[in-house]
Amino acid sequence: MASAGAATLSDLDPGLLRGARVLVRVDFNVPLSSDGGVSDDTRLRAALPTLQDLREAGARVILVSHLGRPKGSEDPDLSLGPVAPALSDLLEAEVSLVTHKPGSEELRERIDAMEDGEVVLLENIRFLPGETANDDELAGNLAALCDHFVGDAFGTAHRAHASTDGVPRQVREKGGRAVAGHLMERELSFLGDTLAEPERPFVAVMGGAKISGKIELIETILPQVDRLLIGGAMANTFFQAMGLDTGESMVEPERVDMARELLDRAGDKILLPVDCVVGEEISSDASVRNVDRNEVGGADKIGDIGPRSREIFAREILGAKTLLWNGPMGVFEMEPYAEGTLHVARSLAEATDEGAVTVVGGGDSAAAAEAADVAERLTHISTGGGASLDLMAGKPLPGVEALDRAQDSDHEENS
Ligand code: 3PG
Repeated sequence: MASAGAATLSDLDPGLLRGARVLVRVDFNVPLSSDGGVSDDTRLRAALPTLQDLREAGARVILVSHLGRPKGSEDPDLSLGPVAPALSDLLEAEVSLVTHKPGSEELRERIDAMEDGEVVLLENIRFLPGETANDDELAGNLAALCDHFVGDAFGTAHRAHASTDGVPRQVREKGGRAVAGHLMERELSFLGDTLAEPERPFVAVMGGAKISGKIELIETILPQVDRLLIGGAMANTFFQAMGLDTGESMVEPERVDMARELLDRAGDKILLPVDCVVGEEISSDASVRNVDRNEVGGADKIGDIGPRSREIFAREILGAKTLLWNGPMGVFEMEPYAEGTLHVARSLAEATDEGAVTVVGGGDSAAAAEAADVAERLTHISTGGGASLDLMAGKPLPGVEALDRAQDSDHEENS
């Protein structure tokens, strides 16, 4: 599997890992439930292949993650405390939370006492102000704890923070290896390589509320795709650009000109819904109607793509060999507006069953794939939100740039 040029864990000689202290940057930024448990363990499960391999190789595994956005000081609500037992259950091995600070003698002693195959999880790294500031001293204190570094926090790879950027650089400076873990490798392969050289037809399905955060992605993807299907409130801004009435629907007025320009440029590549589900309110008990896109009333709010659009989109999806899905077709969390998104999810699963490669980027579509009960059938669901958008838009990711290059793999023989 390719990895945007970064060396990977699979490139390392397992002999190098036996008894070695390996610091793994993971993304355990997971939702917590009101009773303090982990309510969605997708990101924990996604880290297991790397952690299992490291344990089997006899490494001493030091996990570092953030959770939420604490402002550089301790916040008990954002402790990684609940994550340690949840990971322990999945890994079927003890995972202890260690709250000693990097740079402290206590932490040094705890790490020195680790056994081969043991796993510890350091407390939320964003409790320390140096993390988001990419502070050299914090990076040095973390780098001093380990022999090698594994970057597996794909969801955080777009951040140049101490634990994603400074630590791997300092580990390399002192002669250690800094490589991509299995999750990072898989993400880079599907969201990077597969989409850059897709088997055709290549169809992208984009939705969600706004064009704004996705402009770079649309610009990058448009020349590459054979078709770009657009749904969600994003489509409303395109409708306005076409001179259609969108009633009380959500629109980005400042993006209408851009939408017009994209439509001119794209020719027939961009496919918009031909009908919509509308209601006077966006709520779980809204009474809704299906209308053609040129029949939206002054008091209507568009909440989903309509039945004819679902069929048209499904046909396009089923004719494709490579598919990218980013963003829901409507307010799928609310039953009256859910069907368009679920239909797209099911069509993607069907296309995958028939041999297409389906890549899902972005948290909302991942949740929709779960809601449609098709997540297991899709080829790859990214664990990254902002990171997946940046990667698909062709931006370099600091958390990948900081790692060894693949051709450095003779380094281990020399070190
Ligand atoms: C995410 O959930 O997108 C990542 O964990 C990154 O979190 P951040 O946006 O707070 O850096």
